[in-house]
Amino acid sequence: MNIKVSASILSSDLSQIGTETARADAAGADWIHFDVMDGHFVENISYGAPVQKTLSKRYFVDTHLMVSHPHTQIGLFADSGSDMISFHIESESDADHTVNKIHRAGLMAGIALKPSTPAESVFPYMEKIEMILVMTVEPGYGGQGFLNYTLPKIREIRKRAEEVNPNLMIEVDGGITGETAPLVKKAGADVLVSGSYLFEAKDMYRAVQSLK
Ligand code: DX5
Ligand code: ZN
Repeated sequence: MNIKVSASILSSDLSQIGTETARADAAGADWIHFDVMDGHFVENISYGAPVQKTLSKRYFVDTHLMVSHPHTQIGLFADSGSDMISFHIESESDADHTVNKIHRAGLMAGIALKPSTPAESVFPYMEKIEMILVMTVEPGYGGQGFLNYTLPKIREIRKRAEEVNPNLMIEVDGGITGETAPLVKKAGADVLVSGSYLFEAKDMYRAVQSLK
């Protein structure tokens, strides 16, 4: 399986966001993961479209919307460099409508689910989207410990994807390290988000390689 690494800049030195994204890119990260939090869907507030717009156009920008009303944000993020937009199935927006909006903007669409949300909740959309984002920690903060109980759900989604959409990517997000990466890959994940493990590594290149 072709494994991609998406570097979550939430755990980077945010006073140097341009340098930090360049560092992740040079270390071999395939995507830049941009976590958007609205202080309502999750407790934290991170950053939004104007900040994302400052990132270099060279990167594949993987936007993760942890917001209550993602459908209102699609145009803004499409205009601010997103290549992929994922939103939560637990949000208040209609999922079909939001997926259509992302596709009409010419972007790839992903649907994210929290650790305790069952796999079945995303089954109806798996044929029409490009990615499922399985949260392996509770959304809201970087640097948390991986939740092992999410592994069966990754397996379940991969099994279903083999039947209905073999090209579907499965991204995992939260607590991904050199130790947990083999577990999620074995379960069927092929896009690995990693924040603190990468940005706190002495050698980021080696850290990226260890995930792959
Ligand atoms: C958490 C975010 C994650 C987070 C991952 O709500 O969605 O992307 O930054 O950070 P680590 O890899 O440190 O768990
Ligand atoms: Zn994320």
